[in-house]
Amino acid sequence: MERSIPENPVKSIVKGLLRPSYRRARKFVFERLPVLYRDGSRYDHIAAEIRRLRPGKIVEIGTCKGDNAERMLRLALWYRQADYYGFDLFEEMGPEKFAQETAIWPAPMELVESRLKGIKFRGRTPGVRLFKGDTTRTLRDAAPEIGRADLIYIDGGHSYETVRSDWENSAALCGPGTVVLIDDYPNWGVGPLVDGIDRSRWKVEIIEPGDFFHHSDPPLNCKLARVTMAK
Ligand SMILES: C[S@@+](CC[C@H](N)C(=O)[O-])C[C@H]1O[C@@H](n2cnc3c(N)ncnc32)[C@H](O)[C@@H]1O
Repeated sequence: MERSIPENPVKSIVKGLLRPSYRRARKFVFERLPVLYRDGSRYDHIAAEIRRLRPGKIVEIGTCKGDNAERMLRLALWYRQADYYGFDLFEEMGPEKFAQETAIWPAPMELVESRLKGIKFRGRTPGVRLFKGDTTRTLRDAAPEIGRADLIYIDGGHSYETVRSDWENSAALCGPGTVVLIDDYPNWGVGPLVDGIDRSRWKVEIIEPGDFFHHSDPPLNCKLARVTMAK
């Protein structure tokens, strides 16, 4: 029989009492002092990139519920006006795609849109454009509207075909200063895609450390690959 060590009751009471204040403090820093916000995950690397780049045009492939979009936008708005272009299946996600893309279930597009358009920070509101549908189609169609992006975060479908298409369509949005971050390396289709990027045209760096998920089956290590134009 498995036996667990009971937690010290005083410690659990103190933890319980402090938790709401801790949550409030965290929320305050997230919303009002995004330059100081850290959560110890690989997303801190994206934040570091935003502090360095100060991007005016951000593209995210796989907006989902808008969690990371909000974090990126709050931080970007700290420095300047910023526009966000987000892509997801939103309501078009179905059980088949969900399995094929090893996906997370996205929120309805309208909800995400009002969440992101509702951000007001330092007298700035972000430009927000969301595109619903499969990125193998939507990203290519939106390219003329987007033009050259400063930061592109690829975190959509995980099948090789989709990540490859997302990378190829993102490459068309890149200029000399653009940074592309591809999430979830080296898992599913992401590993083969990143390993196959032409090193004579692109500089590819794997950002350490990633996040290790012990409880997924099999356990996963997710890292960001940073891709820029080779000099
Ligand atoms: C891991 S989640 C993105 C999480 C989000 N980037 C964040 O950090 O808050 C992946 C998203 O990609 C979307 N997705 C998966 N396959 C897709 C496809 N082929 N076209 C468009 N979106 C897709 C899913 O609906 C899901 O919302």
